[in-house]
Amino acid sequence: MTAQHAPAIQVHGLEKSYKELRVLRGVDFDVARGSVFALLGSNGAGKTTAVKILSTLLRADAGTARVNGFDVAAQAADVRESISLTGQFAAVDEILTGRENLVLIARLRHLEDPGRIADDLLERFSLTEAGARKVSTYSGGMRRRLDIAMSLIGDPPVIFLDEPTTGLDPRARIEVWQAVRELAARGTTVLLTTQYLDEAEQLADRIAILHRGRIIVNGTLAELRRLLPPAEVEYVEKQPTLEDVFLTLVGDGDGENGHDRNLGTDAKEPR
Ligand SMILES: Nc1ncnc2c1ncn2[C@@H]1O[C@H](COP(=O)(O)OP(=O)(O)OP(=O)(O)O)[C@@H](O)[C@H]1O
Ligand SMILES: [Mg+2]
Repeated sequence: MTAQHAPAIQVHGLEKSYKELRVLRGVDFDVARGSVFALLGSNGAGKTTAVKILSTLLRADAGTARVNGFDVAAQAADVRESISLTGQFAAVDEILTGRENLVLIARLRHLEDPGRIADDLLERFSLTEAGARKVSTYSGGMRRRLDIAMSLIGDPPVIFLDEPTTGLDPRARIEVWQAVRELAARGTTVLLTTQYLDEAEQLADRIAILHRGRIIVNGTLAELRRLLPPAEVEYVEKQPTLEDVFLTLVGDGDGENGHDRNLGTDAKEPR
């Protein structure tokens, strides 16, 4: 398999503990190039921990991970050049304007024509009019969009979005979703974490559920739905929602007895 065709992200046997707390206990998954992969899990499941390892901010105790063909432990600098990370909490500078934030990052990355890069991104994220205003006057959705725009400077092939819409109102969430869809349409690989099941339904080509340190299910939305029999309501067949699947698998069961399922790797359903 050539590097071009290899998955953009390959994770194998990843383990991580914080003292006695075993957060990741052997996590395996691949993310195909140009696809959107959603990592779902409850609070404390280890989503941010996994993202930190993949973005070289944290070292795993065991296992391997490759991003854009590079090993996160042995080739951390190459991995960093291949990715951007938008953390769980927005990293924009409040005192600067939106445009100034973008220009600053473009300068830090030594790119040519930072002003043009900033203007292009403002337009892509519908922030042109707000661009001259201080970020302290932005709504949560505008901040998030600016945050994502900043992470796109330099066109990294792989983007990590850790809970990109937590705390946003429904309209702002839809704006962020639109931005993620555009990224995917341009061929960027996106790994996002979320606690919102509808977000995964809306955006992801594949969805994996992290529970008790392992991926207990990994598949397309259609594949996940097939895990539960459809509920018959008179003559109407009701498809289980991802929420039904999630709660059945994670629910209050202990997740360690036989719920590990991997549903093939090549199916890609239309969203
Ligand atoms: N630096 C740390 N030291 C000790 N424990 C930590 C550290 N970072 C995370 N943890 C613990 O590890 C577990 C996983 O945390 P993590 O942040 O990866 O979860 P998460 O899935 O991102 O949760 P959330 O949905 O709340 O963001 C939690 O129990 C957390 O308290
Ligand atoms: Mg987190």
